[in-house]
Amino acid sequence: MEPLRVRVDYIDAVADGVVAVSFRNVTGAELPGWDPGAHVELTLPNWLTRHYSLCGDPADPSRYRIAVRRERTSRGGSEYVHEFLRVGQELTISSPRNNFPLVQAPEYVFVAGGIGVTPILPMVQAAAGRARLRVVYTGRSSESMPFREELAALAGGALRTHSGEPPDLADLVGPVGPGTQVYACGPGPMLEAVEAGFGTREGVSVHVERFRPRHRVFAPDTAFDVVCARSDRRVRVEVGVSILDALQRAGLPVTGGCREGVCGTCGVGLLGGDPDHRDDIGGAGGTLYPCVSRSLSPELLLDV
Ligand code: FES
Repeated sequence: MEPLRVRVDYIDAVADGVVAVSFRNVTGAELPGWDPGAHVELTLPNWLTRHYSLCGDPADPSRYRIAVRRERTSRGGSEYVHEFLRVGQELTISSPRNNFPLVQAPEYVFVAGGIGVTPILPMVQAAAGRARLRVVYTGRSSESMPFREELAALAGGALRTHSGEPPDLADLVGPVGPGTQVYACGPGPMLEAVEAGFGTREGVSVHVERFRPRHRVFAPDTAFDVVCARSDRRVRVEVGVSILDALQRAGLPVTGGCREGVCGTCGVGLLGGDPDHRDDIGGAGGTLYPCVSRSLSPELLLDV
C-alpha cells in the first residue's frame, strides 16, 4: 500500500523516557484500519526509518498512536522523536502491517515488558470481555512503565504488575492449560523466559514480538542465485551481500525497512529452493525475509 502523509497531533510523556505520539492524516481523511499487533514504519526527516507498534484504539480511524522509548544507545530514531519531533510536523508512515496477529481463542495470557506493552494494549482491549485473560506487565521501575492505568482499566482484576528484578513468570502467570494463546512482547530475556516456560506445554501456543534480533550464530555465508519468477530475472547473491541488497541493486521492486529481520517489510513469496530463514518474525513456509535470510541450495525461487 502507498505510504501515508500524516501530521503529529500530540506528543505526551507517558513514562520516564517514553513519549506517546499521535498522528492524523494530513488530508483529514480516515486512516487505514488495523488490528491489534500491527505496526507502522515511520520515515523520519533524518532519513531513518523505524517501526513502532500501534497502541491506540483500532476502532478510531481518525488517528494512530505509537509510543517511543528513548534508547540509551539510540541510532538516531528514538533520539529524533524525543528531541526534535514537534506537534504539527508532517511525516511519512507506512500503512499498518501485522506480523503479530491476535488469533481467536477462549483463553489468553499476555506478557508485556516495558515498552513491549504497546502491541499488548490493543490486544487486551480486543480480548477483554470475550475471553478469559491474564495479563502480566513488568518493568525496571513503575515510573518506566507506560500505560499502566490504561492497561489496568482494560484488564481489571486480570492484571498483575511487577517492577524491579525480573520475576518468575510461571509464578506470576499461574497454571496455563491447553487452548491458551500466550502473547509476549518485551526485552529479549523476558521473551526467552516466556518461550522456555510456556512454549513446550501441550496445546499452548506462544507468540512473541521482538524489537531487536536475537543473537545467533549462523554457518558461514555462501554465494547463490535468486531466480525471480515474476520478472524473469536471475540475480547473483555474493557473500557479504544480502538478498535484499542484491535485488535492489538489480532494480527489482523489493522494499526494505529494519534490515534486521524483525519488521516484515521486505517479505517476499518463496516458491522454491532450500531457504535459510534467519529472521525473528517466524518466516517459514511461503515467506522469506531477504534482508537477513539466505539460501542453503544453489538457487532460490522467489515471487519477485
Ligand atoms: S527489512 Fe525488516 S524484516 Fe526485512
